[in-house]
Amino acid sequence: MEAKGGVLNASFKILANNSNSQIKIHIPYGGVYPALAKREHNKNLPILLEKTLKEAKLKNRKSPVDLIVVTHGPGLEIALWTGIVFAKELAKKWNVPLMPVNHMEGHIFSVFGKQKGEFLIPKIKFPALSLLVSGGHTELVLMKNFMQYKIIGETLDDAVGETFDKVARMLGLLYPGGPEISKLAEFLRRKEKQASEISFSVTLPRPMLYSKNFDFSFSGLKTAVLYLIRDIGKPDEKTKAQIALEFENAVIECLVHKTAKAVEKHGIKTLIVAGGVAANKHLRNEVKKLEDKKIKLFFPIKELSTDNSIMIGIAGYFNYIKNKKKTLKAGNIKATGNLRL
Ligand code: KG4
Ligand code: ZN
Repeated sequence: MEAKGGVLNASFKILANNSNSQIKIHIPYGGVYPALAKREHNKNLPILLEKTLKEAKLKNRKSPVDLIVVTHGPGLEIALWTGIVFAKELAKKWNVPLMPVNHMEGHIFSVFGKQKGEFLIPKIKFPALSLLVSGGHTELVLMKNFMQYKIIGETLDDAVGETFDKVARMLGLLYPGGPEISKLAEFLRRKEKQASEISFSVTLPRPMLYSKNFDFSFSGLKTAVLYLIRDIGKPDEKTKAQIALEFENAVIECLVHKTAKAVEKHGIKTLIVAGGVAANKHLRNEVKKLEDKKIKLFFPIKELSTDNSIMIGIAGYFNYIKNKKKTLKAGNIKATGNLRL
């Protein structure tokens, strides 16, 4: 990625963009298997770097880049360390600064990115609110100014993506379960719209929907699905779709209700929805209903909803402009599994 400009009028150009999905390797475990993730990271990082430098036509330079950006948390520490160690070695070899970035800040910046070509970061109005929904996090982040973050609500137990994955597993769907549940739910939603009557109806709880804060809770919902499946026995395909639809409706209702409350209370002018679950069609449709003349809405393009390096590059560039000194202490960068915004 090539970046120019300051905080305002920053422009970016993607020179090359590669990723290596490990999803297939983790499918048999129904989730990320840490030791395997580390092994795969170690194996793939040098291969990806070679390929990317070649595509970007930077391979023959002594110092191909001016800055290296690396995620230092939150996440699985064993996997974060592989990236950090690799980035530190490169920074030393190329004699360039190293900037640590918070993965969740990356998700926020993902809404401005593109997979190819050039893009400008638009001027956004504050206060802004980010609904961050990923495999490990569910947060409402208030931003009174550029790069100023305050978590005003979060999940008290399971993250929303994690809940999608666990419920999908109960339904015998493949990992990652979010897209699978969404496919089933969307199929039935379309059918329901056409049909005049619906024969079966499952009802699941909407935990903390009317609590007086901006927090969420999803473990009760997950357990409710578990009990439902225990009571009805192995669900057939039709029942599976009905559970998926009701589950998705319940989750999205909780997310959107609390987001709407926060938008109102804080007089929000910009609403950002990001993280893997931001790829969810029903969430997008429901959040769009909150958009009006006073609120501008930002979602990442689908490819940048789930984890990617472009969002980390953008966040790293802005952090570098804001705090160049930090990069000088590259040796101190360490993986922090529970890093907060
Ligand atoms: O942000 P992300 O790629 O990784 C983390 O930082 O965790 O998010 C991954 C999560 C997974 O739990 C996956 O099931 C969920 O995002 N996800 C979805 C959809 N696409 C991905 N959840 C619901 N609907 C989707 N379409
Ligand atoms: Zn993520």
